[in-house]
Amino acid sequence: MNNELQILFQIQEALKTSGYNDISRVAKDILEYTQNNPLPLDIIIERIKNNEPWEYIKEQGEFRNNIFKLNTNTLIPRIETEIMIDIAKQELLKSPTPYTDIIDVGTGSGCIIISLVKENENKYNFHATDISQEAINIAKENEKNILNEPVIQFSQTDLIEDIALPKGNFCMILANLPYIPTQQYLGLDKSVIDFEPRTALDGGENGITYYEKLLEQIEAKSIKGCAIFEIEPSTLELFKPLYPKVIKDQYGKDRFILIRLS
Ligand SMILES: C[S@@+](CC[C@H](N)C(=O)[O-])C[C@H]1O[C@@H](n2cnc3c(N)ncnc32)[C@H](O)[C@@H]1O
Repeated sequence: MNNELQILFQIQEALKTSGYNDISRVAKDILEYTQNNPLPLDIIIERIKNNEPWEYIKEQGEFRNNIFKLNTNTLIPRIETEIMIDIAKQELLKSPTPYTDIIDVGTGSGCIIISLVKENENKYNFHATDISQEAINIAKENEKNILNEPVIQFSQTDLIEDIALPKGNFCMILANLPYIPTQQYLGLDKSVIDFEPRTALDGGENGITYYEKLLEQIEAKSIKGCAIFEIEPSTLELFKPLYPKVIKDQYGKDRFILIRLS
């Protein structure tokens, strides 16, 4: 066996131990990474065996074909969330009333709003909020690296509390807030529990604590337009009184809802 094959085998074994299912792709990525970066392979393998996600080790993740800087203050963007960009783009295109403002609540790495700006004309007021200043700092870096110019207004605030919008603005609220019911969260893999921020995932007892609060804030601010939420499919029933349009993810699960705000 030549040296490179031996190394690849070693990496694959570590990934297998940690329960990865896309072993060949990640192993190839790790091998390429070690050829251009100073982090030694044995350290990477130790960290992988310790259940640390590869995205946190290399401090980046991919979303809608862009590379986002990450650290343990930011959730690793999930492939399901990419669909939210398509839902938003379709709604922007179809809406008889033109939207003025797009607000990404709980922006994390900024993956949703930055992707939307990148894939759309730059013709809306873009806002992004997070409770974590550390996450906002990373999102701002991603804005700089991916968009090359500051177009998003970032606010460290509780949901949309500090966002001021002129009356009459027509808004699209995008939110992928913590939505996993606490009991379910506690049973997640060690790679999630030990490394990803609990404040990004634990949605309280019923999984909709943050969405309930956000809807109260939307009502108090008399915001008109629409809200697109990513949800835990098992919580869909709780949103039914709002007559949401339900959109499935790529695995056929009821992952997104679109609610009209009037
Ligand atoms: C599920 S993560 C989503 C991150 C990113 N939008 C994405 O899709 O990958 C939820 C985000 O909401 C933020 N968050 C939690 N509670 C919040 C609150 N009360 N107000 C604003 N953001 C909050 C977390 O810090 C985290 O960045």
